[in-house]
Amino acid sequence: MKASAPAKIILFGEHAVVYKKHALVTAVNLRCYADVRKSSNFKIISPLGTTSLDFEVHPWISFAIKNFSKIKPIEGAEVKIESEIPIASGLGSSAAVTVSVLKALDAEFEAGLTNDDIYEIARQVEIDVQGMGSGTDPFISTLGGMWLVPKRERLKFKDFDILVVDTKEKSITSEMVRKVAELRDKYPDIINPIFDAIDGITLKAVKVLKSEIDKEVNKNELSELIFLNQCLLKAIGVSSIKIDEIVEKLKEKGIAAKLTGAGGGGCVIAIGNIQNVDLENSFIVKPEKEGVRIEQ
Ligand code: PMV
Repeated sequence: MKASAPAKIILFGEHAVVYKKHALVTAVNLRCYADVRKSSNFKIISPLGTTSLDFEVHPWISFAIKNFSKIKPIEGAEVKIESEIPIASGLGSSAAVTVSVLKALDAEFEAGLTNDDIYEIARQVEIDVQGMGSGTDPFISTLGGMWLVPKRERLKFKDFDILVVDTKEKSITSEMVRKVAELRDKYPDIINPIFDAIDGITLKAVKVLKSEIDKEVNKNELSELIFLNQCLLKAIGVSSIKIDEIVEKLKEKGIAAKLTGAGGGGCVIAIGNIQNVDLENSFIVKPEKEGVRIEQ
């Protein structure tokens, strides 16, 4: 059986959300596809290589299979992955591969899991692989849609385009979160108000999106908020030369942009007048309502 699950983008609030502030996160229309067939042994075929159960090369898939087997013991499976989501770029490719594999395993072996069960197992896989994590990525990838976290309020939205520019530099979440924690420990009186300001930006963006639900999204106001959020992310040290260059290039075209996810690399996003932007490694995505699903 074949299943797919979407990528995600943090529109506003990364890093501040680690300190219990709000973040606005949406699933987007890039998918990871997992094809699972019963077999007498384990074989995983992905863009990272072909292996058996392998916790080094394929940690997310291997832990997904291991944790699924605790609920429904299986003798073997062939798992084939095809993904539209760039790896280690802050777009949630690890969660999407985990969730799509779990859904395909469930269908192939008729385990009767609900999407809530799939989320819970994927959340455990995140802990097994990373030792920590907010659970946001598997949550969004399982359910789809746009959410205000950590309170998990689902938001209705009018469709809009998001420009993504991939720096092609790796974004290592644990490293960036640690860097910010060190800065906050050293300068709590400076860094905490920055998180409060980011929180205000996120809540303002939510207000804009909610008030524009029946109209064209007010891209001017969202652009200003994107610009402010990027300035504050730069202030806490999670931008990079490459990110700054892309932000500047877009600014020259009158487009506000910000990093998304942990930063230090990964992707830059922009909303607004983005239709004719022709930057290297750039593409357009849309918020995606649908989470994990079976593919026919
Ligand atoms: O780069 P990502 O997609 O792993 O996002 C990290 C977001 C942070 O706020 C920096 C960390 C977190 O767990 O929320």
